[in-house]
Amino acid sequence: METKTAGAGRFTDFDLNAVPSPCFVIDTQKIAENLATLAAIQNKADVRILLALKAFSLWSVADMISGSLSGCCASGLWEARLARQYYGGILSTFSPAYKQSELDTLCSLSDHLIANSPAQLQNMIQIALAHQTQTGLRLNPGLVLGEVDMYDPSAPGSRLGMPLDQFERFVAKGGMADIDGLHMHSLCEQGYQPLAALVEQIRPALDMASGAFSWLNLGGGHMLTHPDYDTASLTALLTELAETYQAQIYLEPGTAIAFDAGILVGEILDVIDNDGAVAITDISATCHMPDVLEAPYRPALLGEAEAGVEVALGGPSCLAGDRIGSYQFADRPQAGQRIAFLDQAHYSMVKTTSFNGVMLPSIALWDSQADSLNIIRQFDYEDFRGRLS
Ligand SMILES: Cc1ncc(COP(=O)(O)O)c(C=O)c1O
Repeated sequence: METKTAGAGRFTDFDLNAVPSPCFVIDTQKIAENLATLAAIQNKADVRILLALKAFSLWSVADMISGSLSGCCASGLWEARLARQYYGGILSTFSPAYKQSELDTLCSLSDHLIANSPAQLQNMIQIALAHQTQTGLRLNPGLVLGEVDMYDPSAPGSRLGMPLDQFERFVAKGGMADIDGLHMHSLCEQGYQPLAALVEQIRPALDMASGAFSWLNLGGGHMLTHPDYDTASLTALLTELAETYQAQIYLEPGTAIAFDAGILVGEILDVIDNDGAVAITDISATCHMPDVLEAPYRPALLGEAEAGVEVALGGPSCLAGDRIGSYQFADRPQAGQRIAFLDQAHYSMVKTTSFNGVMLPSIALWDSQADSLNIIRQFDYEDFRGRLS
């Protein structure tokens, strides 16, 4: 996969030595700009946009987010609790399967609880009714449009959502009587055209169930805040869907909220030679940016030189494959030199681990307009020790 970053933006002015290393630095001004773009889409298309907490759970900026968006979407009990503790608005929860013991609490927290299968739906129905929680069913469009199967819920053999032929039988048997809404999530960092194709793919299913659902949640994966996103076509499509099906439309992006709003600052620890220069950094791909290995992709380096010395960057863990990528430096980097990777606010932050006892990155909020910096979280040995017993 390719990094989708639109560039360093105001991070070119950020002093990398102003924070401890490693450190996620989040530009609250860029978050505000992303939120303004999303709020404008909400107004134009009468769509409700929810923050997908799985992508970005930095609750310190919850008030900003709640002031612009309509609520959150959670992946399970703990995100649902976080949503209710810090964020306002609607809460929609989807998990591929729920533990029976958690359903009562999940229903007490969630406005929408979305099932992945008829069996899961049956487990939740009575409890949802008691809490006046609306229920939904996730559909699997079965249309592969993603760059890699790892991030494509429509990939063959997927466990995510009910395939459309099964949904046809579900509707024929009167299953719609048990649900309020339909859900679909099948995109990853994509533009308008793949969404339009997916909607056409599920349209026969929507037609079949028309009148029997009051909301339609089109999931996340929409790069709504990317400068290239075709928002005019999106608003036209969402308006048409709302009118045709007389349903409230929801989107639940995560990436779009924090897109290009954060960097991961690190430090060169050593430079060795083995088929070229190899630098070991205090940023680990496996501990701090696991998508680099899972996608895989090469994160963009702030201020990468156009020519000079090619340096392979890798982390301090024991994993041979803890490689970030090869980058150009104007000169051979020195121990102590600071570096930063772009567009790391979404997913990287929530996925960090302390494998090998590698230090977790600190978290800093930077208001790029006022140039004010606030280091809001630093982790220490006790955080590492406390995760195990
Ligand atoms: C069900 C669901 N909704 C929303 C999202 C958020 O997607 P993104 O952060 O790509 O917008 C995801 C991401 O995996 C998801 O699985």
